[in-house]
Amino acid sequence: AKFLVLHGPNLNLLGQREPEIYGATTLDDINTRLAELAQADGHQLDSMQSNAEHELVSAIQAARQQYDFILINPAAFTHTSVAIRDALAAVAIPFIEIHLSNVHRREAFRQQSYFSDLAVGVICGLGAQGYELALQAATKQLNP
Ligand code: DQA
Repeated sequence: AKFLVLHGPNLNLLGQREPEIYGATTLDDINTRLAELAQADGHQLDSMQSNAEHELVSAIQAARQQYDFILINPAAFTHTSVAIRDALAAVAIPFIEIHLSNVHRREAFRQQSYFSDLAVGVICGLGAQGYELALQAATKQLNP
């Protein structure tokens, strides 16, 4: 199967950015680990990060009929982006929403997501491990 991992704004700073909230693992570490896990299972996994909403929308549009499953941490766009939500709905690729931090024990504005009701599942608060768990769950969804 083919997996696409999408990371939203400021996640390029992982490792340096508020490490007490987001952890010490870098985005490269996460992407490398996920690609290794996917490959070990005979799957392919590509990842991209953008700080720009339109680039994430375009990446999702381009994923249509190219990818079987999306793992997405929309970061701050979680709480703002109807456009990214609509893109995911348009391509109809199943996705899991991931957050490193537990958004439910943070500011009230982080507790609203434009994605959760469309997602297969949501993982939050487990740090970088959340991505690995999401990949595991996605693999199982595709090959029950
Ligand atoms: C985040 C949580 C969001 O509220 C925040 O804007 C982020 C990262 C997380 O992974 O915990 O940038 O998605």
